[in-house]
Amino acid sequence: MNFKKIVILGTGGTIAGRASSAFDNVGYAAAQVGIAQLLADIPSLAEGGPIISEQIAQLDSKDMSFAVWQQLAQRVNYFLACDDVQGIVITHGTDTLEETAYFLQAMCRPDKPVVITCAMRPATALVPDGPQNVLDALAVARHAGASGVVAVCAGTIHGAVDVQKVHPYKLDAFSSGDAGPIGYVEEGRLRLVRNWPVAQEQRAHVAIEKVAKWPRVEIIMSYAGASGAIVQALLDQGVDGLVVAATGNGTVHQDLQHALLKAQAAGVRVVRSTRCVNGRVLPVPGDAIADSNGLSPVKARVALMLELLA
Ligand code: SIN
Repeated sequence: MNFKKIVILGTGGTIAGRASSAFDNVGYAAAQVGIAQLLADIPSLAEGGPIISEQIAQLDSKDMSFAVWQQLAQRVNYFLACDDVQGIVITHGTDTLEETAYFLQAMCRPDKPVVITCAMRPATALVPDGPQNVLDALAVARHAGASGVVAVCAGTIHGAVDVQKVHPYKLDAFSSGDAGPIGYVEEGRLRLVRNWPVAQEQRAHVAIEKVAKWPRVEIIMSYAGASGAIVQALLDQGVDGLVVAATGNGTVHQDLQHALLKAQAAGVRVVRSTRCVNGRVLPVPGDAIADSNGLSPVKARVALMLELLA
């Protein structure tokens, strides 16, 4: 028995969802069941050591906001600094989980485990996946040597930088792409296949409690027939940064490229990521627009926001 605490922070999601029928895995409302009730419904939860929980938010993660991120990061920092806390588990919706994971990794750079977990079926399902995911997340949070922000879903441990939701329905909805997962949770034990992630170069140089205004960074996609009209509209609104989800190895439709270069010349930060699910943009000397250093478009946006904040 470990006597250090695990803190479980609830933010909503399908894991806390309710449907009117136990056979309905899609027509439910997310974020209905409070974290205390969710945990009370999981047998043997506290067997490995003490747990405390706190409800940070109750939302469908498609509606994740900067205000919730700010509150979450502050509570994560607070508990990371407590000597009697071994690690933190966060229950979260699957839809923007990868953005929150990357945000917390860059903002908090935890040397203890911060484990984000979720579910693809609501709490009311005949066979919900949330309880097992929470138990697996607890096993990771209690693992000696675990550190950094990771996601745990369907028995797989993914690093914050690599994790991506890749399926809208399957219980095993996440992938770490080319990097592969960090490991697996099997019958409460961890089987690691690579090292815990090391702190990333891209990081926040700003204290979360001091953030009063978030920079506006938007994502634009390059596709057949793309134009620069959207870039001009955003410039007119005073956008601070743009991430382009480019084709293939970071290529951009010539009309969109022209508008992006104009925006860049006007002082707006522009970053190229690829819309391909796997791989990364391989830069070549003299590229007119910087690449995202391997980050997906949504994570490149978070990175650019944090950079602009600093
Ligand atoms: C959400 O992201 O909050 C809803 C979808 C899910 O958790 O799977």
